[in-house]
Amino acid sequence: MIDILNLTKDFGDFRAVNDVSFSVERGQVLGFLGPNGAGKSTSMKMITGYLRPTSGTALIDGVDICQEPLRAQQCMGYLPEGAPAWPDMTPRQFLDFVTRIRGLDKAAARHAAGRAIEMTELHGVLDQPIDTLSKGFRRRVGLAQAIVHDPDILIMDEPTDGLDPNQKHQVRAAISEMARTKAIIISTHILEEVDAICTRAMIIDRGRVIVEGTPSALAARSAYHGAVVLTATSARADDLAAQLETLTQVRIEREDRGAEAIFRILRDDKSDETAAALFARVQACLEQMSAAIIGLALEAGRLDDVFRDLTRGAGAEASQ
Ligand SMILES: Nc1ncnc2c1ncn2[C@@H]1O[C@H](COP(=O)(O)OP(=O)(O)OP(=O)(O)O)[C@@H](O)[C@H]1O
Ligand SMILES: [Mg+2]
Repeated sequence: MIDILNLTKDFGDFRAVNDVSFSVERGQVLGFLGPNGAGKSTSMKMITGYLRPTSGTALIDGVDICQEPLRAQQCMGYLPEGAPAWPDMTPRQFLDFVTRIRGLDKAAARHAAGRAIEMTELHGVLDQPIDTLSKGFRRRVGLAQAIVHDPDILIMDEPTDGLDPNQKHQVRAAISEMARTKAIIISTHILEEVDAICTRAMIIDRGRVIVEGTPSALAARSAYHGAVVLTATSARADDLAAQLETLTQVRIEREDRGAEAIFRILRDDKSDETAAALFARVQACLEQMSAAIIGLALEAGRLDDVFRDLTRGAGAEASQ
């Protein structure tokens, strides 16, 4: 549905997006991750035809966005960064305007607007000027206009930014639901969102794609992937620590949190042991001390560690 071909954007001497290529199929939600200034929004602006690439292009259901922007945009919904809208219109007027320029007839427009209003829970503010809406409601108006014509392709720049927890939950559920029949790209700084809704994630840094894969494959690149996490009562923590010291080929981190102590037991660089074998070894080592143990689990890996490892220092360099 979406084919990105060597997309590149220069602003003067500065290359904001550097030779980015990927595809998104129907049924997929691709998450763009990356530090501030990485080039996520700039890529989205080019994919949706709001910014002309310096080189490369995007094919939207086979239609070249640079050659035939209007045709490509017809099957696409776009929530731009900041969710701009006409401030003196009300959400009702704005959605009416959007459905009309999208070419829907009156009955279809009413139905479409009703569905979008339902999804974004805009009922209470339909006749209030957008200018006077709170940030979260303005964002919901932006979301409503992006989905109102039920497009096959959705590009959403930080769709849950500024939403309250209930709305975040609802919008994520709606994105997952829509993904069954659409191809979707979102950008986000909320890493748990990637786990919750993305089928694939891509970390972009300084205009380049540095890694991509399923959220669990990316998390598995974390140093904590396969670590054994032991939660224990703090009263017995020192005894447990002494017992854990007997384990070989491991590195142990300890974190004291009030009544609990958390130990992370990681295989050291020389170990070629499986995570399951380490888990069994830790269990055996602690056999006599089970009364002190609150929890013992295998860590799947943390996306935020991977993100930090791969993009560390980017902010400092980008600002030079
Ligand atoms: N019109 C422009 N002129 C000059 N530089 C620009 C322009 N638009 C974007 N940039 C620069 O391009 C880089 C990428 O910006 P972009 O907005 O795509 O980042 P982003 O990944 O969306 O960041 P954020 O997470 O903060 O939204 C930044 O360094 C930005 O300053
Ligand atoms: Mg951005």
